[in-house]
Amino acid sequence: MSEQEKAARRLAELREQVAYHAHRYYVLDDPQIADGEYDRLFQELLELEERFPHLVTADSPSRRVGAAPLAAFANVEHRIPMLSLENAFSETDLADFDKAVRRFLSLPDAAPLAYMAEPKLDGLAVELVYRHGTLVQGSTRGDGQTGEEITVNLRTIAAIPLKLQGVAIPELLEVRGEVIITTGGFKRLNEQRGATGENLFANPRNAAAGSLRQLDSKITAARPLDFYAYGVGDPAGLPCTSQSEVLRLLGGCGFKINPQIRTCPDLAGVVAHFQHLAAIRPQLDYEIDGMVVKVDDLGLQQRLGAKARSPRWAVAWKFPATQATTRLLEVRFQVGRTGAITPVAVLEPVSVGGVTVTHATLHNEAMIRGKDLRIGDTVLVQRAGDVIPEVVKPVVELRDGTEQPVAMPARCPECGLALSRARKEDGSEEAATRCTNLDCPARQLRKLIHFTGKAGLDIQGLGRKVMELLVNTGLVRDIPDIYRLTEEKLAVLEGWGEVSARNAVQAITASKETTFARLIGALGIKNVGEETAALLEQHFQGDLARLQAAGEAELQQIEGIGKVVAAAIQEFFEQEENRRIMAELLTLGVQAGLSEPASGAQPLAGQVFLFTGTLTSMSRGEAKARVKELGGQVASALSQKVTALVCGDKPGSKLAKARDLGLAILSEEDFKMILQDQK
Ligand code: IVH
Repeated sequence: MSEQEKAARRLAELREQVAYHAHRYYVLDDPQIADGEYDRLFQELLELEERFPHLVTADSPSRRVGAAPLAAFANVEHRIPMLSLENAFSETDLADFDKAVRRFLSLPDAAPLAYMAEPKLDGLAVELVYRHGTLVQGSTRGDGQTGEEITVNLRTIAAIPLKLQGVAIPELLEVRGEVIITTGGFKRLNEQRGATGENLFANPRNAAAGSLRQLDSKITAARPLDFYAYGVGDPAGLPCTSQSEVLRLLGGCGFKINPQIRTCPDLAGVVAHFQHLAAIRPQLDYEIDGMVVKVDDLGLQQRLGAKARSPRWAVAWKFPATQATTRLLEVRFQVGRTGAITPVAVLEPVSVGGVTVTHATLHNEAMIRGKDLRIGDTVLVQRAGDVIPEVVKPVVELRDGTEQPVAMPARCPECGLALSRARKEDGSEEAATRCTNLDCPARQLRKLIHFTGKAGLDIQGLGRKVMELLVNTGLVRDIPDIYRLTEEKLAVLEGWGEVSARNAVQAITASKETTFARLIGALGIKNVGEETAALLEQHFQGDLARLQAAGEAELQQIEGIGKVVAAAIQEFFEQEENRRIMAELLTLGVQAGLSEPASGAQPLAGQVFLFTGTLTSMSRGEAKARVKELGGQVASALSQKVTALVCGDKPGSKLAKARDLGLAILSEEDFKMILQDQK
């Protein structure tokens, strides 16, 4: 055997041994050999690799010490989006979640329904891609669709296997989980930083995030990061029928699975585990901000599917918010993109659960009056869901008589025009006061920030600060102006150069090719978010002219769009100004195409289903969701557009009318067959 062959063989042995002992030590917390012995093996591996650099493999434990610094992070699109979770804040919220699940699945109250309850780790969500058992890519969650590639950094985390253990390893496994820093590790890290005069991290989550977003992975390698796996991108190919089994499988592959997970046979078990976690929370060596409750059965999970951003099969039950008291110094008034005036509390800075809070939204005048907030009050503040700061109430006992009531402005704080308060359909006043001046600079700025921001066309490099600069320098007054920017105009701005100008113009040009839904969402129409925009795209099939011409009545015909939203859309497109903006955008080359179908095939595209009667094997909600997933549409009333009527038990008058119209009439069984056939 040549020396080279010997080295290759020995290296393979060493890789396996080091990985095995690292797993015993870092994951199982149950080392089999002394630290010195482990170090010796590791050292031998390093020395051999140094002599035979071409024998270094991607899964070698030596790759954990950090690689050459990166210039920037690359973007990675998640093959399957990394969704977020809806929150529950009480037992009632949890019961509502359970009800919604049962309703969707048409499961009677008494039918058994098991849940998996897992601590909600407060760190950073990442995805690890394993091909043939080897870690090939790791990324942050990012916006759920696209994250940042941080493979070299993730490789430095000892609890992340570079190679999966076990026998039946799937060809592709996308493992999802949370990178955290233990509270002990966080304290030590901050002590070190304090000693060297570096800025301290506010909390373990920030420390974990900051450590992962290092271009130099040697810095990451020196941070006490840890990792728990909690799921996979797509469990379909795995030999598992439940979330419990998925976690067991991941444990078998070499991942750390949190010991505080519980499979609960019913809701009472879920509640008991929540109370248990709340009780042991102070003793845990890592931060958790609640408990994630997941329908355990994977088949049911699949049936439940997802809404735009979160699955229907899981919910995050948050611990009550952390609170603190501070003083209300002042109330400022902000003008939003739809002209709504929002009062914002300016607070004496106070730390709430490790984050300094200086401002909190007060929503509207009714909220201020309802809580009887006065300037100078000592107030109780909390971070709702541990994120957004809010003022809970004034501490009335601490008043000394100098507190002043909050005066609501009669004029827009930005443009000075009189404010008005719209009336709702029932004649009552809307909660928000609004500036109706379409040219109000604050309104324009917010509208522009929304347009270029994440909820809009997400134009890289045109964040809040840059938009402020562009508006202040007069380069941008309105949305179309963005598409009139040139490298020459941008390069001369303060803090800009040729490179940043070129990048910005490239990003702007790239944003011209967008989807109908994205563009509509970007316009900032009142009450029109991502989901409504998607409904509009589906209905109008990319035809902007038809959308603009649609009246309230037609809009209300769209399943999922109610009176208020329909009115807002009509009002938006009635305004001359908005029509002009749309026309200019099209002239400037903006193209709003159709979104790509979520999951490939759209076999029901062009078909419009209408339901009548009670379905027995699934709920109306599920039936509608399945049609939409397959590219079909769902109507709420009989019309020429309907292509098939699905009849459940005790069909209503729609059946006779559909017969008259000569429509296809399907039984529940027929309908299920259609769904089956599309799989
Ligand atoms: S499941 C579709 N399980 O919570 C399911 N998430 O909004 C999504 N998180 O940032 C995630 N512990 O990183 C899941 N046991 C757990 C979790 C967990 C923490 C985080 C996750 C994400 C957020 C979900």
